[in-house]
Amino acid sequence: MKIIAFGIREDEQVAVDVWMTKHPEVQVHTTSELLKPQTAKMAEGYDVVNILQAGIPVGEETLSQLHDLGINILTLRNVGTDDLDFDVLKKYQFSVSNVPRYSPNAIAEHAMIQMSRLFRHMKQMDIKVYNHNLAWAPTIGREVRKQTIGIVGTGNIGRVAIQIAQGFGAKVIAYDKFHNPEIEAAGLYVDTLDELFEQADGISLHVPGLPENHHMIDENAIAKMRDKVVIVNAGRGNLVDTDAVISGLDQGKIDGFAMDTYEDEGGLFNVDWTGKEFPDQRVANLITRDNVIVSPHTAFYTWTASEEMVEQSLDAGLAYTQGQVPEQAVKF
Ligand code: COI
Repeated sequence: MKIIAFGIREDEQVAVDVWMTKHPEVQVHTTSELLKPQTAKMAEGYDVVNILQAGIPVGEETLSQLHDLGINILTLRNVGTDDLDFDVLKKYQFSVSNVPRYSPNAIAEHAMIQMSRLFRHMKQMDIKVYNHNLAWAPTIGREVRKQTIGIVGTGNIGRVAIQIAQGFGAKVIAYDKFHNPEIEAAGLYVDTLDELFEQADGISLHVPGLPENHHMIDENAIAKMRDKVVIVNAGRGNLVDTDAVISGLDQGKIDGFAMDTYEDEGGLFNVDWTGKEFPDQRVANLITRDNVIVSPHTAFYTWTASEEMVEQSLDAGLAYTQGQVPEQAVKF
């Protein structure tokens, strides 16, 4: 059995090597190239294609080539399926898996770290100290335990975020269309998103980027929020109307914003722009603000997550070739 894994980073190669020692019967060929129409032919002779695209689309031009090579198994090393064209996948009868259960702590921890940094004005403080200004003022902060934290989405990641926020001693409220029994039993759910917006001092987003969630944080939503709200988006870029957030920051309604995902991040994030012309003026604007923390979709980026993403995706590929449907199969 032969797997080709596209877009492999150095940290992932470590995990691939470990996985191969456990599965000597499987050959895994890795390449740092992403799967694109120009690279699809590299998959010739393989049974499974394994990818992590992060913003690079996989559509007809690529999938038709894989289909012609006799390949119909695509395993993702990430959760988001936003890069895939499901109509085409259906047409060519692909089986697809993702890794919905890789370390939720990686993202939840990042989100709650950023939220607490925003409450304590840590970016302002870091800039001040970097410039040798060691005065205390004006960066007096808010203690997390005195805040109400609103968690939108109570899947694997949202639930860990809740535990972390509770660890700080915060009052936590949550919203999700689908109720989790534990969160329900703890009485954390509010009935509507508007209620969460009205009550929360800090809001963290942990729902998928489905069309119905598009621009969940827009001008209307921001108007309902508490003055001086802080918002963290380590979910999906399209959850937030970036222009509305910029305007909320300008008006002082939003006191801080942490953005790990961005609606136009494809081709922008995970690129070193040092010394080059920066192509996105909105992000350039956000980066310069001392109450905005931008990270380039790196909430997931831990050794534990990297290892689990590789391992779970290779396991899924192996299962497919053995005629099984892995538990992380994507239904479409
Ligand atoms: C995902 O797993 O879908 C993520 O958002 C992280 C990814 C870009 C590597």
